[in-house]
Amino acid sequence: MTTPRLIVLVGMMGSGKSSVARRLAREGRVLLDTDTLVEERTGRTVREIFATDGEPVFRELETSVLEECLGHAGPAVIAAAGGVAESERNRTALHRARAAGSAFVVWLRTDPQELVRRVGHSTNRPLLDADAGGRLLELAASRAVNYRAVADVVVDTDGMSVQDVAAAVNAAVAGAGAGMMDADGPAT
Ligand code: S3P
Repeated sequence: MTTPRLIVLVGMMGSGKSSVARRLAREGRVLLDTDTLVEERTGRTVREIFATDGEPVFRELETSVLEECLGHAGPAVIAAAGGVAESERNRTALHRARAAGSAFVVWLRTDPQELVRRVGHSTNRPLLDADAGGRLLELAASRAVNYRAVADVVVDTDGMSVQDVAAAVNAAVAGAGAGMMDADGPAT
């Protein structure tokens, strides 16, 4: 198989998408982080956009940035923010990019309790302002179906370093399959 031009990392807040993407970007891929791009485009932080315009406006900006990222011409790694797979339009865009062979989507799956340990005290994620732990558990459970729907593979990140996860992503992209699970079940 030819290596897909784009690696797209999806998963919950705290699953390590941005850190892993930065690591993968050291290997000749442009780093595209949807939250960072939304902030650059608007000159405002994600928190400010949520506060002044509301979540629906943030989601529109996120969709437009995701679509731009999927159109990136060269090799890139896209850290897709935690809510990206919730939109049908985004899922369709990801599906098209996968079908065209240009994108390979990896779900970084992390134990919800680990997410709570990692980002339960985060102050820059508006969705976690109230009852962060409860919200993370609830979102992790409700979003799993959509992460699964958009992913080519799942990489379980529990107990793994950023470097380990990046290596697992690379192995999956290369089709090596070592330690990987197909999003629909064990690799055959
Ligand atoms: C969100 C995830 C955040 C950010 C916003 C909403 C979500 O990005 O886009 O706070 O809905 O899961 P990260 O996944 O990079 O933390």
